[in-house]
Formats: sequence, C-alpha cells, structure tokens
Amino acid sequence: MPQCERSSLRRNNSLNPGLALLSASVKEDLKPQDTAQPKASFGFARVRPEAKQGLVNEVFAKVARRYDLMNDLMSGGLHRLWKDELVTWLAPPKSAVPYALLDVAGGTGDVALRVLEAAGSGSSAVICDVSADMIEAGRVRAGEEPRLSFVQGNAEALPFPDRRFDAYTIGFGIRNVTHIEAALGEGFRVLKPGGRFLCLEFSAVEVPLLDTLYDAYSMNAIPALGGLVAGDSASYRYLVESIRRFPDQKCFTHLIENAGFERVHYRNLTGGIAALHSAWRL
Ligand SMILES: C[S@@+](CC[C@H](N)C(=O)[O-])C[C@H]1O[C@@H](n2cnc3c(N)ncnc32)[C@H](O)[C@@H]1O
Repeated sequence: MPQCERSSLRRNNSLNPGLALLSASVKEDLKPQDTAQPKASFGFARVRPEAKQGLVNEVFAKVARRYDLMNDLMSGGLHRLWKDELVTWLAPPKSAVPYALLDVAGGTGDVALRVLEAAGSGSSAVICDVSADMIEAGRVRAGEEPRLSFVQGNAEALPFPDRRFDAYTIGFGIRNVTHIEAALGEGFRVLKPGGRFLCLEFSAVEVPLLDTLYDAYSMNAIPALGGLVAGDSASYRYLVESIRRFPDQKCFTHLIENAGFERVHYRNLTGGIAALHSAWRL
C-alpha cells in the first residue's frame, strides 16, 4: 500500500473479529506475521502481500451473485448517480468513430454498460476482472451486447499490449488491488497517448457531521445488511474496512501523477463519500 494509506477507525493488528466467518486458511493469513515482513492491508488486518489477492478473490466469489442488489441497498442507489457522473465526465463519442474502453475491475459490468449506452456505435468495451465469479455474473447480466467482451486478468499485470485503449475506467476496484502503484502504471501503459483515465472510488468524507454519520452507518449497517441479504456480514465488513484504508483524494492524486499521468483532477461526490479522479496520458 502507498505511504499515504489512511488510518482506520479501529486500528487492529490482530485477527479481525469481523472476518471470523472466513475459512481457516484465510484466518491463517490474517494472523499477525513476522513484523519484518512487508504487509498489505486487507480491511483493517495486515497480511502478507502475496496473500491479499486470494483473500480479495474469496470475498468477491462470495458476493458475486448478490453484488448488484447489495450495491443498491448499501448506497441507497447513490452508486448509480456516481457512475452516471463518471460517464458524463468521460464523455465518450456519440458518433461511429472507433473508441476502445478498458474497464478494469469491471465486475458485473455496471460501469462499462453505462458507458456503452451513452456512446456511439463505434465504441467497444473490454471488462477486465480478476474474479471468474464476478465475470460470470456480468456475462449473465450483459446478455448479447456485441460491443462488450470480458477478459479475466489482474489490474497489476494487464493482459493487453501497450497503447491499446482510448480510455481506462476503474470503479470501486482499485482499493482491492494489492499494489496500487503497479495498477496505475499498467493503466498508463495500455492507454494510447491522449488516452483518458477515470477512477471512481470511495474516499474521505470532507463534510463535518456527514463523516460521523457515514462512519456509523457504514461500519454498522452495511455488514448487518450483508448478513441479512447475502448471508455474509464478514465480506461486507471487509469492503467497508478497505474504504478506510484507501488513500484520500489528494494522496491518490499524487499516486496518479507518479504513474506518469497529467492534468490530474478530482471531483467529490456526495461530500467525498466517493471521488472521481480524472487524468490523461499525454
Ligand atoms: C467492488 S467491485 C466493483 C465492480 C464494478 N466496477 C462496479 O463498479 O460495480 C470490485 C471488483 O474488483 C475486482 N478486483 C479485485 N482485485 C482485482 C485485481 N487485482 N485486478 C482486477 N480486478 C480486481 C473484483 O473481482 C471485483 O469484481
């Protein structure tokens, strides 16, 4: 994780009680390791970096079937407005001019499908996600959309040639990645010069009182909802905790700049509950 990782509300270097439902092998990875070893954050827990992706995959394998429903319930539908804002800022061409989008960590296709809906007939989108279960849920949802394809792959080592895409989007995906800098570097590599980068991610609430309310809601209600609706509070606790560990708006801006991008700007959404970062490969 980057140096500017945010502190958690409840710092915890020991086994996280919210993850008690995960399997024995997973718990083994969550135990405090040798302090000399580098660590990655998995929610509030610290794990071996090489173990994190497997843990994340286990979460998304569990939530894939209920993912879209839970997104609506957890955000009260707000994620739809935030994704619409991403599409508006991206402004894909409405003409037949060729336009290739890569939607990384695209999951069930919520971002890519919205972009294609707004774009012209020359546009196409590739969803690249590390989880076979999320991709399967996305394929079922997308049905026969000829402009959309799915590729299983890791954001840190994208299975695409250099300078292949006109735009790169990543929605609520990058905080799950073990090495954020590597993912940003890969985003830069696969974009054409003149290509656009847009990242939608949960961020740091910048409105007094809203931050307190949001903390209380997200730390308590979301895992409870996950338990009720998806029978899995532990996975949803991870999702909330991972939000707290993600760099704030300004720090993430620096990480994007360090990857080589230019004209990096961000917009807060709903007081900073989420933020959209925009950048260009020039
Ligand atoms: C919260 S979901 C977001 C899905 C979709 N972008 C959306 O906004 O609804 C996060 C996604 O990131 C994927 N993911 C996690 N780590 C990844 C990695 N290293 N590379 C690619 N995808 C990853 C997960 O499998 C999951 O589908």
